[in-house]
Amino acid sequence: MTTSETERTLVLVKPDGVTRQLTGEVLRRVEAKGYRIVALELRTADRDLLARHYAEHQGKPFFEPLVEFMLSGPIVAAVVEGQRVIEGFRSLAGTTDPTAAAPGTIRGDLGRDWGTAVVQNLVHGSDSPESAAREIGLWFPAL
Ligand code: PPS
Repeated sequence: MTTSETERTLVLVKPDGVTRQLTGEVLRRVEAKGYRIVALELRTADRDLLARHYAEHQGKPFFEPLVEFMLSGPIVAAVVEGQRVIEGFRSLAGTTDPTAAAPGTIRGDLGRDWGTAVVQNLVHGSDSPESAAREIGLWFPAL
């Protein structure tokens, strides 16, 4: 464990989370952990934004289903601030597969396996300081 300066990360409540009315529960967990929400918006993403957001996954088999899923309904986008928040939010979220995610995590407690090829795992969190800077710039260019 290392200490570090305050960081920012991009958190998305994906369309499954918004549709299932879990936005408040996700944000409650973020705030209860001690992180601060510094920007928050209900958004409808377009294909161009999502292609840029998920650029590193272009060409992977899940890319198109993932983009279609992210276009299927509104998304709540947030910038969240705190000590080591990039790693910390990913710990709160749990691993990608909701069935395998540990109990106590957002995906482990609230995520479901829908029996489809599309993983509907409720939330996204940036995976590195570089990704966070890039993604915050895409979703909140005025910040
Ligand atoms: S990788 O290849 O290891 O980097 O992939 P991974 O980190 O597991 O996932 C990258 C993002 O793609 C999403 N994902 C999917 N979405 C829908 N359907 C399928 N099958 C699928 N597989 C992976 C995964 O949730 C990650 O998205 P974010 O928004 O970062 O959570």
